[in-house]
Parts: sequence; structure tokens; C-alpha cells
Amino acid sequence: MNKNKFPDNFYWGASTSAYQCEGGWNEDGKTPGINDIIENTPQNSEISDFKIASDHYHRWKEDVALMAEMGLKMYRFSISWPRINPAQGVYNEKGLKFYDDLIDELKKNNIEPLVTMFHFDTPIWLQDMGGWANRIAIDEYYKYCEVLLKRYSKKVKYWQTINEQNMYVLAAAVISKTPTQAKDAWQGNHHMNLGQVKVIKLCHQITDCKIGPAPNISAVYHETSNPEDKIAAQTLDAIRNWMFLDPLCYGRYNSLAVNYLKSKDLMFKIEKGDLELLKDPMSRPDFIANNYYCSTTVRKPNDEDLKIEKTGDQHNIKSSFGAFAQTKNKFLKTTQFGWEIDPIGFRITLRDVWDRYHLPIVITECGIGCREKLDKDGKIHDQYRIDFYESYLKELAITINEGVEVFGFNPWSCFDLVSTHEGMEKRYGFIYVDRGEFDLRTLNRYKKDSFFWYKELIKNNGSNL
Ligand code: BG6
Repeated sequence: MNKNKFPDNFYWGASTSAYQCEGGWNEDGKTPGINDIIENTPQNSEISDFKIASDHYHRWKEDVALMAEMGLKMYRFSISWPRINPAQGVYNEKGLKFYDDLIDELKKNNIEPLVTMFHFDTPIWLQDMGGWANRIAIDEYYKYCEVLLKRYSKKVKYWQTINEQNMYVLAAAVISKTPTQAKDAWQGNHHMNLGQVKVIKLCHQITDCKIGPAPNISAVYHETSNPEDKIAAQTLDAIRNWMFLDPLCYGRYNSLAVNYLKSKDLMFKIEKGDLELLKDPMSRPDFIANNYYCSTTVRKPNDEDLKIEKTGDQHNIKSSFGAFAQTKNKFLKTTQFGWEIDPIGFRITLRDVWDRYHLPIVITECGIGCREKLDKDGKIHDQYRIDFYESYLKELAITINEGVEVFGFNPWSCFDLVSTHEGMEKRYGFIYVDRGEFDLRTLNRYKKDSFFWYKELIKNNGSNL
């Protein structure tokens, strides 16, 4: 295969998540998720809520038609847990039917669905019981996933268990809009692992589907060649990355991360039998879905850094806890929102993940968040997004040619949706959605320049890069 070529049958796709695009937050039997609890008024919040979002719940057919026009081969989306499971033990037929229709429409258009079972939207009834920190979440998640597998496994081949478990734990309060103590978040992490190994096993027992986790793994650099900076980077690598894949891929916890948690009094409780559950060979994933946006650079913390104990957003883990301090990387430019643009970091990340686990990889998020508004000609000329993707995809092609097995690329996002914590102001889509932060406007869809660029790229299987 030549450089810059992608394998045949490569899945060129795009990505969304339910709570960020669907809206219809209380329709047809849906209960709120934890992200639905803020109100959409300038008085209550600086950013939009998720109640209407991109109105995909009502416009899904139009959205799938646009995906088909773009030539997508895959669509990665999540099923809303609170839509399917609005109360403990209750499963909502109208919610299930919504995804039946969506999946059927995708299949009709030859678009392979890649379904995330849980993407940040814990149902409020479960949160009221303590959320993931309560052990009951293991069984509730398992029962909900069992409903999904039984209902859709004949038409959905690829499943993701949990989206960005690492970010849900490390930036819990930012993402879930609920105050979360670090210790509870790590306890929740243990429960997520147990839930996932049980669900992966079930999937292998009752279906022919492929299933894997979807963390946000990304390269960590040390600022200088000072060995203490390297130690800081190794520690963050363990806490941010490997702690979330080792239990699923190796069936054991990462000892560096566990030691760190013990030293900070953040260690979670492990009950009898838990470690055996993790070890079960039937519970190993079939692939790793990775979300990548940017890299992180750290150094040994100084006295000032030791005072910082807070998290930033998903991609800026500012919390030092005395182990590392995040710093600027002078070699990298950043997006309007301060995230490093680092295509080579993308390659480094994929090489690391492959080298460590030797499982096929699918990219399920990658993208650039920008402030955008329609031009006078009614268009969005987003050459910056095209440049961003070209640089990342050139590195991806090299990585694949180096022997790393990657079977799909699903950038974030298919169409504009509400950012986890920066609202509508931060747009990622190939398709513009006409709404403001608080003003819903027409909600009509407009194809950006990147839409046409991606269509051409897919048609040529990336050979025109
Ligand atoms: C990932 C999430 O963390 O990054 C998405 O899986 C999120 O839900 C995306 O939207 C981009 O982050 P943000 O904060 O810019 O929306």
C-alpha cells in the first residue's frame, strides 16, 4: 500500500452523542439525564442547555439524508440511557422505537451504525441514588445494555460500552454538571469497569457483534529532558490513559495509577470477586475506539502548582495533586478554545495504543471546535477545519502504513451540536445548525465547505490527500 492510502472498506464516518444533539429531552417517555438539569436562560447559565440541542430527535431523517449525501460509510452515535430506561426497571418502547427507525434508515443508506451504550448521560433517577459511585449502577447499566443487545444486535454490528470513561472520571463536574468528589469518581470508575466487563462478556455470549471501550487516550509529553519531568509525564499517562484500558484489555489495574490513588487517599473499594470478574477472558474487547483531540505537556510541579487541585476541561487535566503540572507546548498552535493542534501527537497516540494492546482501533472522535456564523452568501467557509483534518489524516495514513490497524475514522462531529461545557459557541460539524446559544432560530441545516471536502475524500478513499 502506498503512503497516504487507506485500506479498502475503511469506515469513513462521523460522530455525535445523544444528549448533545437529540433534544426532545422530555418527550415520549424520556426522563432527564444529568446534563438536562440546567436551564436555558442567560440568567441561569452562560451556555445553552441540552433540551432542544440540534433537534435531531425530530430531524433525524433529514440528518441521515445529509450523511448519505456526504457518502458516510459509518455513523457513530449514542443511545440515550434516560430515553430507554426512564425509571429503575422500566424500559420505554417509544424510546426503543426511535433508535429502531434511526438504525433502519442508516442501513437503508448503507451507513454502518456504531453505537455507544453510554455517553455521559446518566439517568437522573440513578444519579439520585449516587450515580456510578453506587454499586447498584453496575447492574442497572448491565440490564440496560442487555435490553439494547437483545433488541438491536441483528442490525448493529459494532458497539461501544462507555464513551470517554477517563474524562467522565477526571473532569466529572465539568461534563456531568453535577458536583463530584474525586474519590466518588474513582469509585464510579471501578463500577464502570465491572459493568463493562459483564456487558462485553454478555455480548460475546449472545451475539456475533464486536464490542469495545471508547476512552480518550492522548499523548503526554514531558516539557524537558529533566528526568523528573519524565516521571511527571509517566504518572499522568498512567492516570489519564492506561488506568482506563489496562483493566479491560489486560484484566488488571495499572499499578502506577493505583499507587498514585493510594498516596492521595483516593483509592476505591474493591469487593470480593471483583478482580476475578475483570480477569475473565470472555470479557476482553474486540477493538479499542479512541477519541483524540490534542496532546498534553507536563513538568514536575513546583510549590505553586501544588496548590492547584481543580480540573480543567476534558482535554486540560489541570489538577496536579502534586504529581504533575500542565504546561504550554511551544511547538504547537492551539484552537480558538486553547486545545493543542497536534497531528503528530495523534500518530504517537495510536502507535502507543497499538503497541500496548494489539487490538484493532477505530477513531470515534477527532475535530476542531470553532466560533462560526453564516456568511452573507449563506455559507460557512471553514478552510481551517479542512486544514485540520488534512493534517490529522496524513498522519493517520502514515500510522496505518507503519502497521497500526485502524479500521475507521469518525470525526466529531457530523453536524453542529452543543459542546459539553462550551455550548453552541463551539461548533464542530460538517453541517451548520442554525441556532444560537439561547435563540433557537430556524434550526435549519447548511452544508459547510468541509462537507464537500469530506465527500470528495470519502469518494477517493483518502487517496486525494
Ligand atoms: C469529548 C466528548 O470529550 O469531546 C464529546 O466525548 C465532546 O462529548 C467532545 O463534545 C468535544 O468536547 P467539547 O467540550 O468541546 O464539547
